Amino acid sequence: MEREAVIRVKDLYKVYRMGDTKVYALNGVDFEIYRGEFCAITGPSGSGKSTLLNMLAGLEHPSKGEIVIAKKHIERLNERQLVAFRRERVGFIFQSYNLIATLNALENVALPLSFRGIGRTARNKQARQYLKLVGLERFMKHMPNQMSGGQQQRVGIARALAVSPQIIFADEPTGNLDSKTTMEILRLMKKIVREQNQTLVMVTHDNNLATYADRIFKIIDGKIVHIEEGHQEVDLLEAEQAAETREETAEVPGRETSDQKAAKKETEEQEFAGKKAGAENLTEQQTEDKRQGDQDEKVGED
Ligand SMILES: Nc1ncnc2c1ncn2[C@@H]1O[C@H](COP(=O)(O)OP(=O)(O)O)[C@@H](O)[C@H]1O
Ligand SMILES: [Mg+2]
Repeated sequence: MEREAVIRVKDLYKVYRMGDTKVYALNGVDFEIYRGEFCAITGPSGSGKSTLLNMLAGLEHPSKGEIVIAKKHIERLNERQLVAFRRERVGFIFQSYNLIATLNALENVALPLSFRGIGRTARNKQARQYLKLVGLERFMKHMPNQMSGGQQQRVGIARALAVSPQIIFADEPTGNLDSKTTMEILRLMKKIVREQNQTLVMVTHDNNLATYADRIFKIIDGKIVHIEEGHQEVDLLEAEQAAETREETAEVPGRETSDQKAAKKETEEQEFAGKKAGAENLTEQQTEDKRQGDQDEKVGED
């Protein structure tokens, strides 16, 4: 049987102008990703990983080229259509978790469901299910600052998965976690995505983590230089020990990177939608459902 390509990228470019100079963050990229696949995008810092992911997720416009996701040309969508695309098709997991500080775990996971016009009872039920799935049944009412990094990222995963997106994008999802928690989170993401036949695209600068993927895309200076099969058979325990001996790495702080920008955009979007009920971005039917849902009070208070 033909494998179904969920993502098709053709001749993709992203050029940033910095004064007189041009930075080719993506310099002609082509690939396909199939349904149910777990792909890792790896490469050194500044190679274009986040730019690529943000473009796939419809967070940034390409300078040139095509991105077809579920038969839709993403590069042809306007801002409003992109918001709808992200809401309907895509889940995002960030390095910095990006939970809303004033909402508890349950409310954070339920929030994207409210954008879909799902009523309070149904969205709380669904949010609870996903928090259980990531092993946080006892932390439903905890605020983000009352949870460890690993727990916060579990909430982030539950939030991304609760809307059952076709595709999940994760940008350095374990970048702020210790190596033991990193392995747990990775295994969890892989397991859930497998069970639900979802597609997972994960950016990492860690070559070892990348070997857990089905395929590894190596990117250098905005070009994919190599695509290889991952080592699915890799012994989990052995890899865990190897991970423990590795040093913790951190991205150099500096000006706002494109992943920080994407994270901020997402939070702003959520907060905006939270405040204004996202009415501008919802269809009429969704708006109607949402209004009804909202009449049943705040998320998570039952
Ligand atoms: N908003 C921006 N303005 C200018 N240059 C940018 C911007 N975002 C990214 N870049 C540049 O594009 C290149 C790729 O960045 P990025 O995709 O963030 O890399 P990675 O995620 O692999 O570390 C880098 O040279 C970076 O400096
Ligand atoms: Mg990055």
